[in-house]
Amino acid sequence: MHNTIEKATGKLGILTPGLGAVATTLIAGVEAVKKNLAQPVGSLTQMGNIRLGKKSENRNPKIKDFVPLADLHDIVFGGWDVYQDNVFEAAMNAKVLEPMLLHAVRAELEAIKPMKAVFDQSYIANLHGDNIKQAATKADLAKAVMDDIENFKEANDCSRVVIVWCGSTEIYLEPSAVHQTLESFEAGLRNNDPAIAPSMIYAYAALKLGVPFMNGAPNLTCDIPALMQLAKQTDTPIGGKDFKTGQTLMKTILAPGLQARALGVKGWFSSNILGNRDGYVLDHPDNFKTKEVSKLSVLEDILQPESNPELYGEIYHKVRINYYPPAGDNKESWDNIDIFGWLGYSMQIKINFLCRDSILAAPLVLDLALFSDLAKRSGMSGVQEWLSFYFKSPQTETGLHPEHDIFKQLIVLQNTLRQLMGEEIITHMGQDFDQDLVEASL
Ligand SMILES: NC(=O)c1ccc[n+]([C@@H]2O[C@H](COP(=O)([O-])OP(=O)(O)OC[C@H]3O[C@@H](n4cnc5c(N)ncnc54)[C@H](O)[C@@H]3O)[C@@H](O)[C@H]2O)c1
Repeated sequence: MHNTIEKATGKLGILTPGLGAVATTLIAGVEAVKKNLAQPVGSLTQMGNIRLGKKSENRNPKIKDFVPLADLHDIVFGGWDVYQDNVFEAAMNAKVLEPMLLHAVRAELEAIKPMKAVFDQSYIANLHGDNIKQAATKADLAKAVMDDIENFKEANDCSRVVIVWCGSTEIYLEPSAVHQTLESFEAGLRNNDPAIAPSMIYAYAALKLGVPFMNGAPNLTCDIPALMQLAKQTDTPIGGKDFKTGQTLMKTILAPGLQARALGVKGWFSSNILGNRDGYVLDHPDNFKTKEVSKLSVLEDILQPESNPELYGEIYHKVRINYYPPAGDNKESWDNIDIFGWLGYSMQIKINFLCRDSILAAPLVLDLALFSDLAKRSGMSGVQEWLSFYFKSPQTETGLHPEHDIFKQLIVLQNTLRQLMGEEIITHMGQDFDQDLVEASL
């Protein structure tokens, strides 16, 4: 299969709708790594290893040395935002990275100015920017985004482009008739159907051009039949939703462990404070609802109360996000978990995670960009479930259940890479590592 992967030659453009805390932390970080000022910690593509063959073979290369990914020096960044700040100014405002580091890459960051955004106030009440496209119809807006992508590609001499949504969380939206087929969606673009969100317009434009689109917010965006159909039609990888960072990352590390040991869970109360712009947008109840649905889905899918009602049938799961400006991007989360063990005796676990939201998210954006480019070059199209590892609420093909357990997600990701490169799949059964020794001793 690996013979069919196109080489990663030429430049890769990474475009992000949204140049806020996450996107600017990614861009400044990659520029700093390119100058050897820091390490890309948290990025599996850059720092992770992958075991190949039997354990006794001792083959454990870095992922970036195993699969043909774009080199960081071949990446060019760009994006759209409703605010006019260039990436240096936006990164300074976001206050995630130290000014000293930002000044070391200032020229590179100042050169990136946001393109005019596709924006609709009814989808995000708490933002008031003026860097916004004006057009008569949503179809015209989609065409304008396609022009932006093609102009960017040409101006920067890119051989390929990928898009990762790093824009704000839109209000909660259920799929409706206009989202069901490509035909109805395109009619909706022409008729300015209010159920077509700005993020869907970017996704449509990307998919029309065969540009991979990954969604880092919990928005519906490309998780609708119309855009899944378009992705297949244009051989384009898509994926989402909502970067798995912070509290949900902890949840999907811990919950599979409790379930593996058949320990019961009665309640899981999760509370957060954060003070960045993301927190301000989520302070609006309609936008919070989108995030809440994404965060709540995780436990049910891991613990499966319907197949184990004795252990998980009574679980009370609550998630709260509170906007608290002094916290800035340094989100603090508290989890109170009521569990029970042998004969029903109760115990409690408390987690207090003092995390840095964008520091956890930036490497995920990099990995998603590089892996979606790899998927495109490998002829993989439609929903990339093997990238579920990166998402709170993984998109699946219609009718399938998402996998939330981070360890299973990692196995699927690594086995996909092994398969792509013509290596044996590893099942983690004993035979994988000591069968040779067993046979030798017979
Ligand atoms: N930081 C994390 O750990 C994390 C985790 C999971 C998901 N997310 C999601 O990632 C997204 C980005 O987070 P952030 O912390 O960078 O937020 P942010 O508010 O700092 O940045 C988002 C940017 O998107 C812009 N924007 C909004 N709508 C837009 C549109 N239609 N077109 C172009 N730009 C638009 C905003 O002006 C803002 O600058 C949010 O949706 C957030 O919920 C973040």
